[in-house]
Amino acid sequence: MYFFKRAFNLENIFWGANQETKTFVKKEFNEFLSGGESQIRDLCLREDGMPRHILSSTHFNKKFLDYIYTLTKSLKLFHRGNPKYVSNLCSDYSVLNYFQQSSSRTFLSFSMAQSLLGVRKEEVRSIETSSFTKGESDIDSLRTISSYFDAIVCRHPSSYYHLFAGWVMSCSEREIPIINAGCGIKEHPTQALLDYFTIKESFSGRVNGLTVGFVGDCLRGRTVHSLAKLLSLFDNITLVFISPSELSIDNDTLTYIRENSPSTKIVIKRDGIEPNVSNLDVVYMTRIQDEWGKKGVYPEEFCFKKRLLDKFSPDGILMHPMPKREEMDPALDFIKGDKRLVYWRQQRNGMWVRAALFAYLFNRGNQLENLN
Ligand code: CP
Repeated sequence: MYFFKRAFNLENIFWGANQETKTFVKKEFNEFLSGGESQIRDLCLREDGMPRHILSSTHFNKKFLDYIYTLTKSLKLFHRGNPKYVSNLCSDYSVLNYFQQSSSRTFLSFSMAQSLLGVRKEEVRSIETSSFTKGESDIDSLRTISSYFDAIVCRHPSSYYHLFAGWVMSCSEREIPIINAGCGIKEHPTQALLDYFTIKESFSGRVNGLTVGFVGDCLRGRTVHSLAKLLSLFDNITLVFISPSELSIDNDTLTYIRENSPSTKIVIKRDGIEPNVSNLDVVYMTRIQDEWGKKGVYPEEFCFKKRLLDKFSPDGILMHPMPKREEMDPALDFIKGDKRLVYWRQQRNGMWVRAALFAYLFNRGNQLENLN
């Protein structure tokens, strides 16, 4: 049995220390949100349809995904031969890694991606060290940061913070890109990019027609929501959500996919991995996201046991956004040479994909396109 809170509202944003500021800023932001998805898209997309902020996987299109995939491949290859050139590519740009919620790989891979390109970077990993403790509002904090940096990578417990940050930028005279590094339970778009890269590379460039099984906490797994929406851009995708009923895929994600991608087949399963594994090309494991509520016991049938590899396609891949826990058999980590176990490579891909993302956002992609 699982216990969790479902209320993720605007209250996680710090509107200001006094009532007048709180009321005013909140009303303005609510007015922006009331413009709906088309207003948010206008904020996030450039005139050519490519993203200016990286807030949600729903803003990606195939052109952008292809571009990031190709750029990541070029960057990896070119870095091997000429790391010095790459390390100067974005040395005139700076980024703040603004993490108000814990992270290992997203923070570290963003930080290393910036180092690879020579981006100057600073970090805030706890707001206890910032002037938040003196009552500075989130809007003032964001505008302060944008005075010094050329992009903000943000992680925050609110499912609205990335939208709020993008909106704050659009209200200012120094609009810099906001990159959502995982805000609340709804979206983790750069994880979706690295997952997409890992899938596409593993299937020799093919994404169309794949059957992808998401296992575990499909309700609160922001990586699940972002990747499922991204994959629904492709043709004849089957998404199988395998979870206990308490952790079933959220309605927002289902509605989005049904409305935007009629060719995507959605299957919901409650019977665990074993009865389904032989039908899947990709198994995407997730842990119980109990930071959003009380801990539950992970049912055995939703754990990936080593013996399930015998039933899994020889061409399939086993993914996990990490951190992993009891849902992954520890014996899996002691297997060498099984090319289906891609989750450590998936993690490393995050660094390269995020480096490619900065090259794109800072308009340096063209310097890598034809070099290999
Ligand atoms: N995948 C992921 O977001 O991991 P971290 O929380 O460690 O950044």
